[in-house]
Amino acid sequence: MVKTMPFLPLLLSLFLYLSFANEAQCYQQKNVLSLQTFQWKPQSSPPSCLSRKSRRKNGATILEIKHRDYCSGNIIDWNKKQPNRLILDDFHVHSLQSRMKNMASHMNIEDASKTQIPLTSGLKLGILNYIVSVELGVRNMTVIMDTGSDLTWVQCQPCKLCYNQQEPLFNPGTSLSYQSVLCNSTTCQSLQFSTGNSGVCGSNQTTCNYVVNYGDGSYTSGELAREHLNLGTTPVNNFLFGCGRNNKGLFGGTSGLMGLGRSDLSVISQTSALFGGVFSYCLPSTEAGESGSLVMGGDSSVFKNYTPISYTKMAPNPQLSTFYFLNLTGISIGGVALQNPSFANGGIMIDSGTVITRLAPSIYKAVKAEFQNQFSGFPQAPGYSILDTCFNLSGFDEVNIPIIKLQFEGNAELTVDVTGILYFVKTDASQVCLALASLSYEDEIGIIGNYQQKNQRVIYDTKLSKLGFAGETCSFS
Ligand SMILES: *[C@@H]1O[C@H](CO)[C@@H](O)[C@H](O)[C@H]1NC(C)=O
Ligand SMILES: *[C@@H]1O[C@H](CO)[C@@H](O)[C@H](O)[C@H]1NC(C)=O
Ligand SMILES: *[C@@H]1O[C@H](CO)[C@@H](O)[C@H](O)[C@H]1NC(C)=O
Ligand SMILES: *[C@@H]1O[C@H](CO)[C@@H](O)[C@H](O)[C@H]1NC(C)=O
Ligand SMILES: *[C@@H]1O[C@H](CO)[C@@H](O)[C@H](O)[C@H]1NC(C)=O
Repeated sequence: MVKTMPFLPLLLSLFLYLSFANEAQCYQQKNVLSLQTFQWKPQSSPPSCLSRKSRRKNGATILEIKHRDYCSGNIIDWNKKQPNRLILDDFHVHSLQSRMKNMASHMNIEDASKTQIPLTSGLKLGILNYIVSVELGVRNMTVIMDTGSDLTWVQCQPCKLCYNQQEPLFNPGTSLSYQSVLCNSTTCQSLQFSTGNSGVCGSNQTTCNYVVNYGDGSYTSGELAREHLNLGTTPVNNFLFGCGRNNKGLFGGTSGLMGLGRSDLSVISQTSALFGGVFSYCLPSTEAGESGSLVMGGDSSVFKNYTPISYTKMAPNPQLSTFYFLNLTGISIGGVALQNPSFANGGIMIDSGTVITRLAPSIYKAVKAEFQNQFSGFPQAPGYSILDTCFNLSGFDEVNIPIIKLQFEGNAELTVDVTGILYFVKTDASQVCLALASLSYEDEIGIIGNYQQKNQRVIYDTKLSKLGFAGETCSFS
């Protein structure tokens, strides 16, 4: 896609110029980041949230991904928006950790079916930032993309309680392909596993009511139904989704959510006959207004990766089967492998909804020390929220940043894009922080956040239980 949106907040792109010339060479293992001061100007007319591009190629269906902030139109001042973001991210991670702990300690195979398994997207909804558009029934719907949950839902008419959305509400009454799910069906019973709440009968036996509680007070409830879905031009008949009559939370502007998790209800499972249970995404650089792509199907010829794909197996974790886990085996900073930290104590989770990657305290400490060692000579700046390694770079035109690589079992590697290493708290670069954070406790589960997944092709193969990474400059076209 050609970028033709001059009035948009081209935040990072205005002061980050990635030097691709350095990409290939390993000399010093650094990338050049150019810094330019940038004064925020409110947008004169916010662009539309609606993202409707899609295409089909070699059996794969490709949907355009956009960042939600970019089209929400209510960012007045970037510097003021920052605190909320990271506070929400922290809040989200705390709740994830406590839920994972509860799940791991209370659950065993026998009582798995009785256990309440919360939907994992929970608090992250305020920061689940990437959106795609699909056609449901006779309507295009822009929804949040979530690898951490399963049930896809949209707000539905008539609505008891709906938040504001940009598109008209979905109206089952105007769709001939809409069918309610019976409450005595096994499908209705499967809600227990996917959402943590069992389906209950509506006022009569013809409806199966679902409830998803997100822990922070956000929720959606309504009826489970089947509808014709088009992913791009690929039809999916009898797609199971939630027709939400009562929805509250920070889903702002969008029509609902698309669940890319692992259970039977997720869009990945429901389309496995079409796409083989494989999907991948390239998350665009957040603030630049760029597009990324969600590819359904595993044909790698449609990817535009510039490094080979390296695969690692998904770490089995039957107790926490809703999440995607990997086995992190090492980290290198500027080509220097970290010594000693306790890698491989447990899996690390990969999540599209957490922003900043969280590492065990011992690992984070080693990363920070090595990063400071290599990124030296810059004035320090105060820490910011969860970020404690900050610099004042406002006196510099460009800086060399050490390359950060995460290594996984099977020699797979994620080379963090240069836009994913530093977080600009202040747009004038007077407070720029290492975009990684420490967990509170050594035994908490690490999380690879979306900030470090930018400009990567991330491939989820749920059938072969493997996950791949490759460098890619995201664009839809
Ligand atoms: C949805 O959007 C696509 C692409 O813009 C368009 O071709 C299609 O007609 C739209 N569908 C509806 C029901 O509006
Ligand atoms: C479920 O309920 C419907 C409608 O009440 C009925 O026709 C059907 O036989 C029931 N199915 C089962 C499996 O009980
Ligand atoms: C059952 O409920 C559905 C949805 O609320 C409604 O459309 C239908 O008319 C009801 N059927 C009966 C027999 O009450
Ligand atoms: C950051 O550095 C610049 C230039 O070196 C200096 O003028 C400015 O006062 C510093 N800002 C802060 C907040 O320390
Ligand atoms: C992670 O990978 C390492 C290296 O291959 C291996 O020794 C370790 O057992 C793995 N850990 C888990 C939890 O699978």
